[in-house]
Amino acid sequence: MPWPFPQRDEVLIRVRASSVNGTDLRLRRGGLGLIGRLQLPLTPGFDVAGEVAACGPAVTAFRPGERVYAVVGHGGGGAAEYVTIRQSRVAAAPQGVPLAQAAAVPLAGLTALQALRGLGRLRPGERVLVYGAAGGIGAFAVLLARLFGAHVTGVARASKLDFVRELGAHEVLATGEADLGGRGGRWDLILDTPPALSFARVEGALTPGGRVISTKPFPSSPAEVRASLHRPQPRFASVRTAERGLDLGLLTRLIDAGELRVPLDRTFALEEITAAHAYAEGPEVRGKVVVTVDESPPETR
Ligand SMILES: NC(=O)c1ccc[n+]([C@@H]2O[C@H](COP(=O)([O-])OP(=O)(O)OC[C@H]3O[C@@H](n4cnc5c(N)ncnc54)[C@H](OP(=O)(O)O)[C@@H]3O)[C@@H](O)[C@H]2O)c1
Repeated sequence: MPWPFPQRDEVLIRVRASSVNGTDLRLRRGGLGLIGRLQLPLTPGFDVAGEVAACGPAVTAFRPGERVYAVVGHGGGGAAEYVTIRQSRVAAAPQGVPLAQAAAVPLAGLTALQALRGLGRLRPGERVLVYGAAGGIGAFAVLLARLFGAHVTGVARASKLDFVRELGAHEVLATGEADLGGRGGRWDLILDTPPALSFARVEGALTPGGRVISTKPFPSSPAEVRASLHRPQPRFASVRTAERGLDLGLLTRLIDAGELRVPLDRTFALEEITAAHAYAEGPEVRGKVVVTVDESPPETR
């Protein structure tokens, strides 16, 4: 493929690593309802970590050689040797971790951050339930919710509860055994990461000011529509990850300060991306899966 060329405010990134997100898996299975609107064949990967190779003429924030990371944005394309991304989406990568680890952060970390802090307005001392706590977004959500001073309950399959405890959850519940309906007033914020919950199922478990934040693209029942219109604060909201370099910069600072760790499970080489997807949707994965990218030798270009 031809090398991409950075226009105006775009940064050309020499990709060292990308990651496998739940979005990649759903997209590959045809499960996002977007396939018709995406151009095929498509390159997977929503995260990149690498070095700036070149900058468009209007780029002011980065210079060639800097270690950076970013969410590629709608349609993916990160599992590649080079990508171009607008500078507003890019942030300096954490200094203290290898790029192969940094690549695990952007989409999952931003989604967890924006769901909890932005949309969910999480306050210290509140009780949070993270559903899908051993997944990419879920693991970051447990780590960040702890960091923000919340009391955290993590729900994951029984074999992964030790991992969720290690992330810092105060309480853990096994998927399927978790009674989320019958215990009134337990949680101020429920973050549904797979997404697999309905508002009606968990409404009874919310405190009076409690809210559900979901990775569903939009409310999927009349109860969810009503809850999303609730004032002064919606009781149901869908998170739409904003690919903001500024938010990613906050994650960089937390990682460099040693306050946030990266829940990386395994890395695979780009040539093994099929195995990486299989592992990421298998029963063993805990946290994030990363794909590392080596430059192809010139004769194969
Ligand atoms: N709206 C947005 O802007 C946005 C942004 C990013 C991601 N997303 C969506 O968020 C979802 C999660 O992404 P991710 O990267 O965190 O995925 P992931 O790393 O694959 O994690 C998903 C987790 O959900 C659990 N899970 C799956 N199905 C479940 C079910 N029926 N009941 C209970 N738990 C279940 C899995 O646990 P097990 O091990 O038990 O299977 C896994 O730990 C994806 O669907 C993605 O498309 C949305």
